[in-house]
Amino acid sequence: MLEGKRILLIIGGGIAAFKALDLIRRLRDRGARVVPVLTSAAEEFVTPLSVSALAAEAVYRDLFDLTNEAEMGHIELSRSADLILVAPGTANLMAKMAGGHADDLATTLLLATDTQVLFAPAMNVRMWDHPATRRNRAQLEADGILFVGPDEGPMACGEFGEGRLSEVPRIVEAVEAALDATPSGAASLKGRHVIVTSGPTHEPIDPVRYIANRSSGAQGVAVGKALAEAGARVTFVTGPADVAPPPGVEVVRVRTALEMEAAVMAALPADAAVMAAAVADWRVRAPATGKMKKTAGQGAPALDFVENPDILARLSQHAERPPLVVGFAAETETVVEHATAKRTRKGCDWIVANDVSEAGGAMGGSDNEVTLITGSGAEPWPRMSKDAVARRLAERLAEALEGTS
Ligand code: C5P
Repeated sequence: MLEGKRILLIIGGGIAAFKALDLIRRLRDRGARVVPVLTSAAEEFVTPLSVSALAAEAVYRDLFDLTNEAEMGHIELSRSADLILVAPGTANLMAKMAGGHADDLATTLLLATDTQVLFAPAMNVRMWDHPATRRNRAQLEADGILFVGPDEGPMACGEFGEGRLSEVPRIVEAVEAALDATPSGAASLKGRHVIVTSGPTHEPIDPVRYIANRSSGAQGVAVGKALAEAGARVTFVTGPADVAPPPGVEVVRVRTALEMEAAVMAALPADAAVMAAAVADWRVRAPATGKMKKTAGQGAPALDFVENPDILARLSQHAERPPLVVGFAAETETVVEHATAKRTRKGCDWIVANDVSEAGGAMGGSDNEVTLITGSGAEPWPRMSKDAVARRLAERLAEALEGTS
């Protein structure tokens, strides 16, 4: 529920702007107060009157509405909100935010605040895929902006792809998750050492070929970032990931599972460990020292595999075991049952379980829907960004370690 929460809703100019009307209604149904701001482009798609009627609030439209100090100034307008929601968010708004522009009311509000911002993009698939938009998104994520969507599907322009505004119920869920995950500042990880593993491992076949998996490293990076932001000293052991390591952590780069294991053990002692890496289960027993040649008519080589060490299980049994060991479980079916069994089998304290089936969409995507499995049961978390999952996990870690020496 959103009882007592105040949400500043910035409506950008796009064909999906009409969905903001339903969004206002649903947010208000859940008890939120919604203060709407329209960009001038948005006014081409929805009228201030209908927005104002649904919100039961005055609509803020231009910077000069606010120059009269008797009214609310833009600083106060943005800071008095519990959350700023941009929906629909256009490519233009993303670019302006990433560049720190402030040439109208919406962008000025966004620049003048340290309130959490949740951005629900909606744009043509080509605009979404454009390197400039990707760059802007990466920048905004690094700045701590949360994203919900966009979704894939048919677009108003007749094309098909990623770029549709997320469905309204999903945006509402993301709002709830974002408000819930906003750091309370109560528990901190100051003075704590946490080891994080992240990314895939590459297991060599010969000097040029390797076995790998599709892990992007995004969730591990988000975890490392959230822990560092909560004050922890983070040793970030990463395989060859797509995503750059977060700022403020000590990065240890490894390639194989054996190297990752050695790096984790070398980083002990620690107060906690979060194993977000997708470690390859097997490695080639004897990788060739020279490039294996393809010889016509000789067929494919047979690869002989051996099992890799289970770093999580070994750490859980280690003499210097950190007081809190957290594993991840990527499952495609009966997620909770499998993850609960995995927690016992590996001897760790918690498992963050997620659905990596096609429908779950966690692999490579920016969102995640996880269940936290602890000794006292399974706790499903709503779908949220990988950053929000990481922040929530960091808070839980801080709470669990509070009072321990
Ligand atoms: O057994 P499964 O691979 O599903 O377990 C996933 C969890 O175990 C993750 O936390 C992963 O980082 C960890 N793991 C590990 N070493 C392995 C395999 C998995 O640390 N060899």
